[in-house]
Amino acid sequence: MSRGTTASINLNHLRHNFSLVAQKADAASPGCGVIAIVKADAYGHGLEPVVKALPQEAAFGVATLSEARTIRRLRPQAKILLLEGFLDAAELQAARTLALDCVIHQPFQLQLLENSPQQVPLNLWLKVDTGMNRLGFPRSQWTDVLQRLKSIAPASNITVMTHFASADQADSEHSMKQLEALTDLECGLSMSAANSAAIFSFPETSFRWVRAGLALYGISPMADILGSELGLKPVMRLAANVIALKDIQAGEKVGYGGCWQAPVDSRIAVLGIGYGDGYPWHARNGTPVYINGLYYKVVGRVSMDMLAVEIGRDSAVGIGDEAVLWGEELPVEVVARHAETIPYVLPCGLTSRVQYVYTGQNDLELSAPPVHVDENIAASSTVRGRE
Ligand SMILES: Cc1ncc(COP(=O)(O)O)c(C=O)c1O
Repeated sequence: MSRGTTASINLNHLRHNFSLVAQKADAASPGCGVIAIVKADAYGHGLEPVVKALPQEAAFGVATLSEARTIRRLRPQAKILLLEGFLDAAELQAARTLALDCVIHQPFQLQLLENSPQQVPLNLWLKVDTGMNRLGFPRSQWTDVLQRLKSIAPASNITVMTHFASADQADSEHSMKQLEALTDLECGLSMSAANSAAIFSFPETSFRWVRAGLALYGISPMADILGSELGLKPVMRLAANVIALKDIQAGEKVGYGGCWQAPVDSRIAVLGIGYGDGYPWHARNGTPVYINGLYYKVVGRVSMDMLAVEIGRDSAVGIGDEAVLWGEELPVEVVARHAETIPYVLPCGLTSRVQYVYTGQNDLELSAPPVHVDENIAASSTVRGRE
């Protein structure tokens, strides 16, 4: 028996999510394309296999030149958007060589462009700040910057983009204000605004390009909704084996700091996964784990290599049984709530100790039958086992 610490990546589910997003975007804004956001190793799912699995029409969004290089090798013709743009002259040169679309959000990037006339114009994405207050030109500079950009590249090579701060909150007044600011610009250029949350909650912001990250991986971008409720399918399934069983007496404490005490005689299953693999240390007592069709609770502090689950004295769980930490049976959104974090963090945080297995490379391969998620787990409150 091994620790069995495995992230299984279902590429059929990835493709399903991509087409769902593409359909939604096209229905809201005919001709709208999808930029698959694959930065940070495709949100921890593996950049190369994810890029290879997506359809030819997919464009890609990345944060670093190294991510862009990997994609260019795999997809010589694809549109690749460098989300923070080039940061110095050498990066500008590399972006040209790789034929990247570049976000321009700071005056120094404009100057770099103006100081190095281009033989072949790059596709430039003017980032306007409509209320996120992170990247982008302030409203007072939009007209001037647009003029300068138009003297560098033809209008057909320029897209105006912004990023929503709160699209994950339904009926967000702030998103509406951001949208109004963007449309006030009335520049007649291609536009892009929507991230995953806006694609579902604010489809009128689809414009020419949507930029979908989290939803592609089957995870809900909205705090109180699961991906499955939006028609998405989870791409990652994280599992580990039971490596030890231990009977404990009522009153005994489990793990570092003894922060969980057995209320009655019970049994603990120790799993071969811990924060050294990327499972969140913050997962509270009661975080659900799925073993052999039942939901159990994490008890005590998560260790570097292990965590403990209370299974009870009458449990049939045995050494070597597989436990699911998140996946179709147990939404990662629920685990994130128990760990007081956001679901983005969990797949992104897996370490090199986790073994990755890919299924569904072949389009003809059938996806696994749908698994019913326990409604109590979906509500994230009640989990089988004791407090
Ligand atoms: C500019 C930009 N657009 C789109 C996205 C994708 O966001 P999401 O994963 O919420 O779809 C990101 C993610 O950080 C981003 O920075």
